[in-house]
Amino acid sequence: MSIQFQNVSKAFVQNGQGAARIIQALNPLSMEIRDGEFFSIIGPSGCGKSTLLNLLAGLETSDSGNVTVDNVPVEGPSPNRAVVFQEAGLMPWMTVSRNVEYGLKLQGLSRDERVHRAEKYLKMVHLSKYANAMPHQLSGGMKQRVSIARALALEPKVLLMDEPFSALDAQTRDVLHDEVQRIWQETNTTIVFVTHNIREAVYLSDRVMIMTAPPGSIKRIVPVPFAHPRAKSSSDLSYFTAQLHNQIKEEVDKVAARELDADWKQDAEGLAVAAEGTDYASGI
Ligand SMILES: Nc1ncnc2c1ncn2[C@@H]1O[C@H](COP(=O)(O)OP(=O)(O)OP(=O)(O)O)[C@@H](O)[C@H]1O
Ligand SMILES: [Mg+2]
Repeated sequence: MSIQFQNVSKAFVQNGQGAARIIQALNPLSMEIRDGEFFSIIGPSGCGKSTLLNLLAGLETSDSGNVTVDNVPVEGPSPNRAVVFQEAGLMPWMTVSRNVEYGLKLQGLSRDERVHRAEKYLKMVHLSKYANAMPHQLSGGMKQRVSIARALALEPKVLLMDEPFSALDAQTRDVLHDEVQRIWQETNTTIVFVTHNIREAVYLSDRVMIMTAPPGSIKRIVPVPFAHPRAKSSSDLSYFTAQLHNQIKEEVDKVAARELDADWKQDAEGLAVAAEGTDYASGI
């Protein structure tokens, strides 16, 4: 399914101490994501990546403009647009299988169909053995696999992923990159993938959208000119990643200059990035 953002903007009112502040999360932006594309969004913390994804998921409404999927305006959540978040968010009192089935139950699918889909998608993420386990018995990586199976079981046309691997260790992340790539190719789903990890974005995506420091807007949309499947060790990929890194660092530096003490640049450049909870320089 193709996705269009036309002049979409979003502000939030934040009530803290003193007067309420208006935060412009997204300046008006327009872009198109193609049917079947793997599209990544990257940018400094607070630049509106999750806001953009939530608008597409129908979890937020825009202040201006339109978000459309195959020319139909997004007016709320839909099983056609499933979301995988950073935290797996499984229900601890339900078995793995019941967690996967839950959204299908809400959709009114028959018990047979629910069981069939749970089996199919748990198999796809290699967790059939754990169908009857409880979430607390699983590792973080396994929980995230269940969360991916739960989203896939909806058989969505669009899969939205908001930093799905950032809480995982590097080895688990590596394995899940390949799983997601395989599942994407098997299911022809359009994937919109938010990450802070440039190498991850370059490894997986057809195109990478770089956002500016807040208020978020589009800095550049960059096609990744390598055929799938890709080799993580490829020097072309590393070179390409380094080029993108410089562009993103410019935006991260703007955020750091606004938020941190004036001396951050001289002695704490690395820390400034780390302070944002990001992981730009490391491998994937
Ligand atoms: N529900 C909300 N209420 C108030 N402010 C919000 C809300 N959601 C987001 N914001 C604000 O909007 C801005 C953009 O937030 P958003 O979560 O989209 O950024 P992000 O790019 O996903 O950041 P990160 O990389 O840290 O996840 C931030 O200033 C944030 O504080
Ligand atoms: Mg976010």
